[in-house]
Amino acid sequence: MTDSERIVDNEAQDNEDGLDNSLRPATLAEYIGQAALKNQLSVFIQAARAREESLDHVLLYGPPGLGKTTLAAIIAHEMGVQLRQTSGPAIEKSGDLVAQLNELQPGDVLFIDEIHRLPKPVEEVLYSAMEDFYIDIIVGEGPAAHPIHFALPPFTLVGATTRAGLLSAPLRDRFGISMHMAYYSTAELTQIVNRSAKIFGLQIDQDGALEIARRSRGTPRIANRLLRRVRDYATVNGDGAITQQIAASALTKLQVDDMGLDTLDRKILRLMIDHYQGGPVGVKTIAANVGEEEQTIAEMYEPFLMQRGLLIRTPRGRQVTPLAYQHLGLTPPSQNMNLEV
Ligand SMILES: Nc1ncnc2c1ncn2[C@@H]1O[C@H](COP(=O)(O)OP(=O)(O)O)[C@@H](O)[C@H]1O
Ligand SMILES: [Mg+2]
Repeated sequence: MTDSERIVDNEAQDNEDGLDNSLRPATLAEYIGQAALKNQLSVFIQAARAREESLDHVLLYGPPGLGKTTLAAIIAHEMGVQLRQTSGPAIEKSGDLVAQLNELQPGDVLFIDEIHRLPKPVEEVLYSAMEDFYIDIIVGEGPAAHPIHFALPPFTLVGATTRAGLLSAPLRDRFGISMHMAYYSTAELTQIVNRSAKIFGLQIDQDGALEIARRSRGTPRIANRLLRRVRDYATVNGDGAITQQIAASALTKLQVDDMGLDTLDRKILRLMIDHYQGGPVGVKTIAANVGEEEQTIAEMYEPFLMQRGLLIRTPRGRQVTPLAYQHLGLTPPSQNMNLEV
């Protein structure tokens, strides 16, 4: 597959026809799924608004494409404040963070994406900023150097990370609200596909939406991406309307199978079966063999394959399940699966 055909991909490649922004829900009410998280957040927001306080700091963690960035913008919108957006890798020095903090108006939301990638000295500046809304900055050099105590307006830090475990404990502890984003159900993804189709002005029937949803790896970003690919296919091979049959042929052509697995998912499972008797295999070895970055495998492939029951994690590495053999049309070894869980 060429890069432009990659279905599982990161945000950077996601901006064909401004897809991301036109499809992003702007309010909590429009945000589909994540019911428990939405209910909690709604209470916290209402309470903060009633007390005329800034919302407690919020940590959002979960796999890419599940709606973390979208939710950060919604929080700012629902609080009626400005959103300022940056990311861990973009803040190289403490000075960069100080500049961001300096811009904040009372109550504003500062969104730091990939917050686990903040350099340590920057992270340390954040501690007092989050806890007591001040920073101590050193001005001058040599003997003339002295700290200045700098008060900040109350603000809300929203941090996003793909894995909470990557965050240092002191940083994690400073978030009053910590929320795990779960994969979406097929029913929720069907709603998302229908909503996006409406925004695009597409004709889609219920089974067409369901077919796309089923193959979207529990991920709204992928649902939207598949919808766009199916739309192209429907334009060229039909009258533009999306039916179950059109969706299924388009997705099969794209090598997204009926469980939503793409070429790389199947390559990973095949590798483990053909060369490692189904495992256990370390994720490093898997990444090296399929020619992908370890992080991509760990964040986008492994969690999905585990969620679908095709892969399990053991103390000695990853192991495929009998279901994985079946899915690939192979016979699972009958004895000694040796599942060490
Ligand atoms: N709950 C949701 N309801 C509807 N669309 C969603 C939802 N969550 C995400 N999306 C869509 O998926 C895309 C990816 O979401 P994003 O917030 O960028 O994910 P993340 O920041 O977690 O990687 C967004 O452009 C948005 O259109
Ligand atoms: Mg994001």
